[in-house]
Amino acid sequence: MDLSRREFVQSAAAVGAGLLVASRGLAQAPAAAAGDVIEVALLGAGTQGRVLMNDCLGIPGVRVRAVCDIWSYSQRYASRSLKSQYKRAGHADWAEAVATYDDYRVMLEKEPDLDAVIVATPDFWHAEHSIACLKAGKHVYCEKEMTNDLATAAAMVKASAEAGRLLQIGHQRRSNPIYQQALKMLREDRICGRLTTCYGQWNRGVQPKLTWPQEFEIPAETLKAYGFESMEHFRNWRWYRRYSAGPIADLGSHQIDIFSWFLGADPRRVMAMGDTDYFTDREWHSDVLCTYEYKTAEGSARAFYQVLNTNSYGHYFERFAGDGGALTLSEDPRKCYYVPEPGKELPGYLASVEKVVHDGVETVPLLPAIAGLGAEGKAAVEAFQNRNVHQLHLENFFAAVRAGDKALLACPGEEAYRTAVAVLKVIPAIEAGGGVPFTPADFQA
Ligand SMILES: NC(=O)c1ccc[n+]([C@@H]2O[C@H](COP(=O)([O-])OP(=O)(O)OC[C@H]3O[C@@H](n4cnc5c(N)ncnc54)[C@H](O)[C@@H]3O)[C@@H](O)[C@H]2O)c1
Repeated sequence: MDLSRREFVQSAAAVGAGLLVASRGLAQAPAAAAGDVIEVALLGAGTQGRVLMNDCLGIPGVRVRAVCDIWSYSQRYASRSLKSQYKRAGHADWAEAVATYDDYRVMLEKEPDLDAVIVATPDFWHAEHSIACLKAGKHVYCEKEMTNDLATAAAMVKASAEAGRLLQIGHQRRSNPIYQQALKMLREDRICGRLTTCYGQWNRGVQPKLTWPQEFEIPAETLKAYGFESMEHFRNWRWYRRYSAGPIADLGSHQIDIFSWFLGADPRRVMAMGDTDYFTDREWHSDVLCTYEYKTAEGSARAFYQVLNTNSYGHYFERFAGDGGALTLSEDPRKCYYVPEPGKELPGYLASVEKVVHDGVETVPLLPAIAGLGAEGKAAVEAFQNRNVHQLHLENFFAAVRAGDKALLACPGEEAYRTAVAVLKVIPAIEAGGGVPFTPADFQA
């Protein structure tokens, strides 16, 4: 790679990051030339890593040149797929050059020309991986949940600032143009009036534990060296306390993130309940119900959130309700709709859309309404319908890297840190109990 170009991308980012500290969104570092290729490595090539890798293939000017994973199964699967896709796309030289690594330290040493690393390892590795990559001068796109504890999440933010490199966290709804348009409709058109209540859920049915092909069993000493107690823990890390903060972080973090974003406030209080008795072979709460309280610019608001692993009805969505109406959003386009309060006067782009009955209620479907907003609305709907939701967030990250401008990031580390605070506090809230207890005697007349 052309060294002067690399130095340019790096110094541009450093300048952008430095400027941000003083004034987010002000003067920009000059953009890298459009033809420059951003050289990327994938660290953690499991289910989500491969989704992100494939999404990178659809982004012009981005090349995935290395795959790092401790599991030969993931490493081979991802690197073979990458090579064949590059060959098919006419990049035989890129296919030839795809490098594979087991250990991220070796990769960082052998690949000094990398511009960015995508971290998609289990959550308990995020901080170590992200911080090492930032310190090595790479920009980092790290999957959510940022980390399992706030001290290491803060260390990630600090490492990004000190290295002058960008850190984006994978709360991809922040780059979703439907969510962005919806927020404008709430704030500028006030379609729900004063927001008083948010509701969110991620309901999924009982899922068996993940297994693995016996021929790809990792030796016990290798598992131990990378912090895993057993192959079963390695595959099902989400359910164990030492690797993950459980379903509330795994699934809830996406949606609790949206509550704060849309309300423009961090929560002031959380109350929560969760169970650990449904599954006898897992450590984390399978089902969690929690309530947040916020103080917004307009007054108080509350959010109710639930994550279920025992029933899938309704799947996942977020709802924002106020004295003017209720807006439901989801990464599933069928669940994006608006219901006005009786008598609410609607702006033309909502009034003119043909209503759709959803769960027995007449609703205004959001996508045709947004498409009616003109060129920007049409582009938002087209992007949402034609691109994977993760690709949109990666595109945002690479645009910020290319411009050397942290202010462009849809979910910089600082923002994700606030979400991590809101999410991770649910666990002590469950453990503290709280509420008003009942005794059997209370129910005797
Ligand atoms: N943004 C989203 O919507 C979304 C969706 C799914 C998962 N995720 C996140 O993506 C991350 C990965 O999740 P997943 O479902 O792909 O998990 P996974 O278990 O399928 O994949 C993890 C991969 O990391 C590898 N790995 C583990 N420790 C490693 C280490 N020290 N160095 C290198 N490789 C290592 C494993 O071998 C495996 O291939 C998690 O943080 C998860 O929360 C985000």
